[in-house]
Amino acid sequence: MRFMLLAGVALVLAGCAAPADAPVGVSVGAELDALAADGRSIAEAECAACHAVGEYGESPNPNAPVFRTLLSRYSAGVLEQELIEGIRVSHPMPEFQFNPQGTDALIQYLQSIQQTPAQ
Ligand code: HEC
Repeated sequence: MRFMLLAGVALVLAGCAAPADAPVGVSVGAELDALAADGRSIAEAECAACHAVGEYGESPNPNAPVFRTLLSRYSAGVLEQELIEGIRVSHPMPEFQFNPQGTDALIQYLQSIQQTPAQ
């Protein structure tokens, strides 16, 4: 009986889980969601002038890749490192220097919006 109740709850949770293609599953706790929300704020404040930072839309700067597919080309680990060190690739991006918390948040957010599973 207890088991059936739990199974029922799990089904309900699965039913209203965020987009099925999101790499983060139903097991994501409130803490991670808060982190991703922080990341979204950072992206909107720091990156949205050029990049499309949400789940749809084109980048204001056509040369700037949309964030929702970024992690299919870039591994989260590499990106994290580059954000901490400040991205210094030869492109017209302002130089950023994130602290590890801000980077975690941003990566978490990016992972939550990827349309193809992150590598
Ligand atoms: C002033 C405009 C601008 C802002 C603001 C901006 N970017 Fe970019 N970004 C670009 C452009 C343009 C490119 C593409 C450059 C290229 O392909 O040479 C790019 C590329 C990138 C890339 C891919 C780099 C690569 O080598 O493929 C990443 C990752 C990235 N941006 C992250 C960010 C993050 C994270 C933020 C916010 C913290 C941000 N960008 C803010 C303009 C911007």
